[in-house]
Amino acid sequence: MNEREAYARLAKIAGMDEGLVPLLAELFIDQTVINPCRDTTIRQLGKVLGLKPGLRVLDLGCGKAGVTLPMVHVYKVRLVGVDLMPEFIREAWARAEHTGLYEGCEFILDDAREFVARTRSQWDVIIINGALPYLWPTMEEGMNALQPILKPGGKLVIGLPYAWPGGEQDPEEPQMSLDETTAFFGKWGSVEIMDDGRDGWEAYIAPQKQSMARLKDAYPDLPGMMALQGLTDRLDWEKANWGFALWIVTKNQ
Ligand SMILES: C[S@@+](CC[C@H](N)C(=O)[O-])C[C@H]1O[C@@H](n2cnc3c(N)ncnc32)[C@H](O)[C@@H]1O
Repeated sequence: MNEREAYARLAKIAGMDEGLVPLLAELFIDQTVINPCRDTTIRQLGKVLGLKPGLRVLDLGCGKAGVTLPMVHVYKVRLVGVDLMPEFIREAWARAEHTGLYEGCEFILDDAREFVARTRSQWDVIIINGALPYLWPTMEEGMNALQPILKPGGKLVIGLPYAWPGGEQDPEEPQMSLDETTAFFGKWGSVEIMDDGRDGWEAYIAPQKQSMARLKDAYPDLPGMMALQGLTDRLDWEKANWGFALWIVTKNQ
């Protein structure tokens, strides 16, 4: 897919003007992981998954591969990452090259849903951190589409927000509770949870607010800046009302 097509698709997914999409990438300029998960969780994930050299890992909506590139470094897995944001794919390649991991990785600019429909491979581990709701109309469809490309006994890692007990719901973006989400994923295998609660939000929000302030200084009159500002303004509400966890679903043998 070329960059123009990728920007157009992302604009449609994010419901924003195509010209603003590169600025969306700039919002995350100081972050390698684009989710409110804790660093310690990311570091422990490879061990929890029992990663070994040569295992094949697919990261869908990989962003800058901030979650999975360390797995290539520590466990010598082979990684394919797919994302629609050209800036993120470029940065993932650059980080791989900089750390000498170039040969163990491939990063592809593509729609992850189309990649899943096309691939003939079966994967030992598939990771979708903070991207499942963007890829298929429902999570059920997504989970069913992923089963044929996951090896028996393979592991699917899904990172998602969940409704914090006693918090508000947004009717436009309703979330299940931690327990409801666990029961939902239980239809596809046995489930483990790495729950960060609300502990990862602050480190996720602060750099975005700083980037937003820089962008407003740099482009004060840019139409659409309000839409971008709306995204960062909403983060405090999300922090108050959503937890974040990784669900690890092991496919039955
Ligand atoms: C919240 S970010 C998470 C990035 C990464 N997984 C991480 O944890 O750092 C969601 C990512 O999904 C990507 N994305 C959204 N829709 C996509 C699609 N249809 N195909 C591929 N990537 C997509 C976005 O470009 C973005 O990088």
